[in-house]
Amino acid sequence: MSLKVLLGVGGGIAAYKAAELVRRLGERGAEVRVVMTAAARSFITPLTLQALSGHEVRYDLLDPGAEAGMDHITLARWADLVLVAPATADLMARLAAGLADDLLTTLALATTAPLVLAPAMNHHMWRHPATQRNLARLRERGVRILGPAQGEQACGEQGPGRMLEPGEILDALALGTGSPLAGRRVLVTAGPTREALDPVRYISNHSSGRMGYALAGSLAARGAELILVSGPSALDPPPGVERIPVESALEMEAAVKARVGNCALFIATAAVADYRPQAPAAEKIKKNQTEITLRLVRNPDILGQVAALEPGPFTVGFAAETEELEAHALAKLRTKGLDMIAANLVGGETGGFERAENALLVLWPGGRKALPLSPKPRLADALADLIVERYLAYTRCP
Ligand code: C5P
Repeated sequence: MSLKVLLGVGGGIAAYKAAELVRRLGERGAEVRVVMTAAARSFITPLTLQALSGHEVRYDLLDPGAEAGMDHITLARWADLVLVAPATADLMARLAAGLADDLLTTLALATTAPLVLAPAMNHHMWRHPATQRNLARLRERGVRILGPAQGEQACGEQGPGRMLEPGEILDALALGTGSPLAGRRVLVTAGPTREALDPVRYISNHSSGRMGYALAGSLAARGAELILVSGPSALDPPPGVERIPVESALEMEAAVKARVGNCALFIATAAVADYRPQAPAAEKIKKNQTEITLRLVRNPDILGQVAALEPGPFTVGFAAETEELEAHALAKLRTKGLDMIAANLVGGETGGFERAENALLVLWPGGRKALPLSPKPRLADALADLIVERYLAYTRCP
């Protein structure tokens, strides 16, 4: 399955680079649909981008004809990634404010896909406190900013504000070569496990698998060879991800053990059942007794086992806690011997199981970073950045 990129084109002179970007995205296997702002159409014609993307270019929010086909919500859902290039000062301001006054800004609000901006503007506009404040707000929300580059500008002045070249944008997105994870195998566990009581009943939990699937997609988009060992989940595997379906903790353990040997990273997002019925009944349990006793035994700690491997992969664990988030997560980081842990509060207002949004506190030996409440795909993207950063620091000084 190819990566579906929604390319938003803003109205700046760098819009001419969008044509090359569409072509190169296609070369690297992405499916591209283009949305332009009104100003962008003064710089480059929709026809050019339509010919290169092979799809009608959209620019009108209130176009009944276009909306009758792929309406803006369908388009927002379709995207695996929303890339805005060039992102002008005005467009960044509207995105930072959360305006929905044209098709592109509306899509940016309606999508839960990661949002990536490649800014392009005059260097005074870039340095202006208003733009810098908008930039900080966008970053805080997990929006990824690529560039701008330094150098000569279309206006003849020198400074930061040039849009990155299409090739640089693709490299930063790790579409194709140049990725920090290119050629690296990453194993992710996700979803709940089901522990059989008898052939028709099981013990499980509310995990949807969303966070693990989103993280697997983000890491695959950074060039990793991604294996996703997943408990039962209604989700489709993200593009480029090999899914190994499992049911129980013991099956998950076996699937991980068989594959972790040549993995550079192991990321345990799965909500593994801590206990399983000691002896699942061979036949359906009959309700002929007023009371029955279920004897449970501990499941193996898959993450703990992988973290103890010598030499082992870079290990990332998750901690879902209902109180004392940092203290519990830190204790888990230490006792399991992890390289990183991502902790979130469950049962509160801030997210957790079965929710589309979440916030994380990420800890590693000697460091911490809070990732604010955002849709899980966007949060996963910010976490993927942090994992890559820490992994590279770890491989440089093991
Ligand atoms: O010990 P605790 O269950 O709180 O740790 C949570 C972390 O450990 C998660 O990353 C989870 O995926 C992983 N885990 C595991 N095997 C278990 C239990 C938890 O890999 N049996």
